[in-house]
Amino acid sequence: MNKKVYVGMSADLVHPGHMNILKVAASYGDVTVGLLTDKAIASYKRLPYMAYKQRKEVIENIKGVKEVIPQDTLDYRPNLELVKPDIVVHGDDWKEGVQSKTRQQVIDTLSQWGGELVEPSYTAGISSTQLNKSLKELGTTPDIRRSRLRRLIDSKEVVRIMEAHNALSGLIVETVKGDNGIEYDGMWSSSLTDSTSKGKPDIEAVDVSTRLNTINEIFEVTTKPMIYDADTGGIAEHFAFTVRSLERTGISAVIIEDKTGLKKNSLFGNEVAQTQDTIENFCQKIQTGKRAQITDDFMIIARIESLILEAGMDDAVTRAKAYIVAGADGIMIHSRQKSPDEILEFCKILRAHNEHIPIVVVPTSFNQITAKELSLAGINVVIYANHMLRAAYPGMINVAKSILENDRSLEAEESLLSIKEILDLIPGTK
Ligand code: SPV
Ligand code: MG
Repeated sequence: MNKKVYVGMSADLVHPGHMNILKVAASYGDVTVGLLTDKAIASYKRLPYMAYKQRKEVIENIKGVKEVIPQDTLDYRPNLELVKPDIVVHGDDWKEGVQSKTRQQVIDTLSQWGGELVEPSYTAGISSTQLNKSLKELGTTPDIRRSRLRRLIDSKEVVRIMEAHNALSGLIVETVKGDNGIEYDGMWSSSLTDSTSKGKPDIEAVDVSTRLNTINEIFEVTTKPMIYDADTGGIAEHFAFTVRSLERTGISAVIIEDKTGLKKNSLFGNEVAQTQDTIENFCQKIQTGKRAQITDDFMIIARIESLILEAGMDDAVTRAKAYIVAGADGIMIHSRQKSPDEILEFCKILRAHNEHIPIVVVPTSFNQITAKELSLAGINVVIYANHMLRAAYPGMINVAKSILENDRSLEAEESLLSIKEILDLIPGTK
């Protein structure tokens, strides 16, 4: 009987290094490839370009591959226990670094039945990391960008979205990485920060085409998906056109809020009482938007203002249920309270009613709770809605003042981005 050989791989950008591993593996016996699922990959790095099904189709057609099975975790052990291979093949590049622990686990597990680890030397001169970098420089297409949000929601524990109001802030959202390895998954086009950066109040005074100009500039230098804040969406007939324009641009989702009349930002006082739209009207707006969209992947997310406008939890839940029936692809629930309690209560009730509908929150006021904790409450998308803009402007004001007060720029220099940092941030400057 042929030996059983196991190879774990992501196989997103298949290159000669993969071919070499598979060739070596096939020389030992029958190869089973444990193909990492989108979820497994997204747990430690960005979402793969190709979905699992597409990657599977590529790998199962490579010579010498007998079978492709899903590997649901980075940890090889569950699949090894299942397959009980005689041999595991992996490039020798995992001896050091983050994967060394996984490697040791593989060796220990194989030793239970006398299996062996074979490690061909790593193919120099080509790597997925390098290919990824080149791809980023090439950019993306509206179709690919648009479809990414749904895939992220399906594969990630929680999707982290950061506000971007111009190309530079978009570039920061695109590239910044925490020391814990976490990146933002996408961008939020906020009506508040877009209008503020244009010196206007957040009252739907900036029209969609002006907003789209800014977004096209952001899209020129980024690849991550975007969620668009369309305020109330205007009247239903206009909203249908907005949906088409957003889709065409490559935006993944639009959020509309259930208010009528002159819109004001939800985080500001409510001295001018705002009216909430009727459930019937708002459902009709959702339906008009859904009928207008052309692609399957675009999402229309309904934002419920009941807790902001003190209409109560029952009203919020009733609306959520009605909006889902009307075709909403997700529910955003908003709150202005410092405590997340009412948001968590809402999620508990909604999740009991509907297991899958994506839930979106904007934790500007309830900022103590972490994205991870929100995800444990059943929340799928967390939007940091205004933080890039609010970070930038205190810096500008302080520097502008300091130059006046000192009559020179020497004192301000320490709070400025250095020329070297500009070179690092902007691709193609060097
Ligand atoms: C925005 O960012 O413009 C929003 C979210 O609508 S909030 O400001 O929290 O209302
Ligand atoms: Mg807004």
